Amino acid sequence: MTKLAGKSAIVTGSGRGIGREVALKLAAEGARVVVNDLDAEPAHEVVGLIKAQGGEAVACVGSVTASDFADRLVSTAVTNYQGIDIIVNNAGFTWDNVIQKMTDEQWYAIMDCHLTAPFRILRAAYPVISAAAKAEAAEGREVFRKIVNISSVSAGGNVGQANYSTAKAGILGMTRTLAKEWGRLKVNVNAVAFGHIETRLTVPIAGKESATVNIEGREIKVGISEALVEQSKKMIPLGRPGTPVEAAGSVYLFCQPESNYVTGQVLICGGGIGSI
Ligand SMILES: NC(=O)c1ccc[n+]([C@@H]2O[C@H](COP(=O)([O-])OP(=O)(O)OC[C@H]3O[C@@H](n4cnc5c(N)ncnc54)[C@H](O)[C@@H]3O)[C@@H](O)[C@H]2O)c1
Repeated sequence: MTKLAGKSAIVTGSGRGIGREVALKLAAEGARVVVNDLDAEPAHEVVGLIKAQGGEAVACVGSVTASDFADRLVSTAVTNYQGIDIIVNNAGFTWDNVIQKMTDEQWYAIMDCHLTAPFRILRAAYPVISAAAKAEAAEGREVFRKIVNISSVSAGGNVGQANYSTAKAGILGMTRTLAKEWGRLKVNVNAVAFGHIETRLTVPIAGKESATVNIEGREIKVGISEALVEQSKKMIPLGRPGTPVEAAGSVYLFCQPESNYVTGQVLICGGGIGSI
């Protein structure tokens, strides 16, 4: 028996990394998944993988920061799966610099993606969720829906991440507020704050090597120096970074029915490091 049979789930940034594994896990548990990514190819690949496993998925390609995106995402879920049961706000990247070198462009790019986009998506989802919750209440039924916002242990402060740490702390405020606003709709609103998870954002960099990701035409430096990776391993009680599959497992905890009475909480998935 799959725990999420028939549920309609949206996972932003699910073409790669943690989001990809979240989409695959939710689909393996029976959810029908709207797979979003900035980049078409990985999004379609994940849709293909889900379908190959006998699941249901549809792609909604585009940047979560586009002004018309939230409405398009919500209507993709409603048109294909007749509603929304789960939203995972995961899309994101880092664009680091110490504050004296951080540009307005760097600041707003991170705010737009990690904070404004989840706000717009949740606002656009409200009429759909509220109408369903009211109909279910009228029938005397409690149906729990799930929002999982992705944060980071950087929300507690991290050198070079004034933009990112602010956004990842901000999403925790939004999580706690919506848990209170949407409790009457039986929506569980929680956050997962990751520590060091092995994805392209945290790829180890040797010497003068560098790694970049392309975000809407900008080549942005990412990665962690090998020395810092070694240092980070020593600080992690479980002795190593997490895998995207392990990260997805922690998101799934908030999507399953066993967490129906848990809302407004932040789970740190960091192998034992971190407090926010
Ligand atoms: N990897 C870590 O150690 C770590 C730690 C803490 C938090 N996080 C958070 O986890 C989330 C996933 O990161 P990841 O490590 O899997 O990175 P990743 O780069 O492997 O995957 C992120 C995906 O999001 C997509 N994306 C980026 N900007 C987008 C946009 N504007 N619209 C739509 N899609 C977009 C990318 O194309 C990519 O496919 C992010 O919110 C990140 O901040 C990661």
